[in-house]
Amino acid sequence: MKRPLAQVVSTGRAIPAHVMTNHDFAAIGLETSHDWIVERTGIVERHIARDGETTCSLGSEASRIAMQRAGVHAGDVDAILLSTATPDRLLPATAVDIQAELGATRAAAFDLSAACSGWLYGLTVAEGMIASGSAETILVIASEKMSSIVDWTDRATCVLFGDGAGATVLKRSRHHKGILSSFMRSDGTLAELLYRPHGGATVPITEAVLMDRSHFVKMAGREVFKHAVRSMAEACDRALDAARLTGKDIDLLIPHQANVRIIEATAKHAGISMDKVYVNVDRYGNTSSASIPISLDEAFETGRIGEGATVLMVAFGAGFTWASTIVRF
Ligand code: UT7
Repeated sequence: MKRPLAQVVSTGRAIPAHVMTNHDFAAIGLETSHDWIVERTGIVERHIARDGETTCSLGSEASRIAMQRAGVHAGDVDAILLSTATPDRLLPATAVDIQAELGATRAAAFDLSAACSGWLYGLTVAEGMIASGSAETILVIASEKMSSIVDWTDRATCVLFGDGAGATVLKRSRHHKGILSSFMRSDGTLAELLYRPHGGATVPITEAVLMDRSHFVKMAGREVFKHAVRSMAEACDRALDAARLTGKDIDLLIPHQANVRIIEATAKHAGISMDKVYVNVDRYGNTSSASIPISLDEAFETGRIGEGATVLMVAFGAGFTWASTIVRF
């Protein structure tokens, strides 16, 4: 096992106050049911951003909490990495809006686009920056306003997602705590199984695009499901092997929260019993890359992660991308 180079020293989260339950879809004329959504996904409700809540505002709020817990001031931050699939504007990066909002005047800031795996990708990038000596204190944030990119007339996708943000402060490892292993992969040949067809540089937003709603998320759910189960299993194996650990050594598994059936299959494959798996998909739906840092923050708050705990985090998302990281806290 390698010596840890970087550690997660604190966490924070920001969740919009407005809750939308499965029953609320009837009010927008969607043909679905609470029972279908719970049975197929495990989702009961999700939080939806309202008046003035943005990817920047949620990310900034989560960051302030994480910074305060770490005793880090805005001027101490060397870099801000924001994972998001829903930047507030396409140019510049939303990370610089967070930099301005926090007053982090010494910080480099950039967005990272790897869909649901983005926060785990961000941890690995930040670890590399710390190891190289180019940064000492890094904010790794995931903030997602999925409600702004789903098609609220498409029952196959809009019931699945929610909004929220999680943030963490990363510093150089001390006392052998920190990132023990990581794994990242991608397969762009499958991009069109989960994507936004139009609205980018190739086919910019036009009246025709708006009319056919092709700027919204499209997903081949069943196909994505199969790949998610397979890839998250592989990612668990690779991170465990690299750290010379097995599922028995893991105190808590925090999987990406997309579907409770995918979570159960991942835990089973890794040999981790469900009492050691963090699940909050019922309360938040799929918040894309924010789902793991939100879960991590809740797990600390509720005492699910104690001193010395070994935590395996694993994600899968559009791209496809998939990733895993094991951290000793
Ligand atoms: O975060 C990135 C990763 N994303 C994921 O991991 C998502 C992976 N996929 C999934 O979680 C599941 O595939 C879904 C939850 C999206 C769908 O569950 P499923 O068991 O794979 O259902 P399905 O797509 O095969 O659809 C089954 C039926 C269809 O009707 P027919 O064709 O069998 O008559 C759908 O039209 O369920 C219907 N359906 C719905 N019914 C009620 C689809 N969405 C809904 C809905 N309410 N919201």
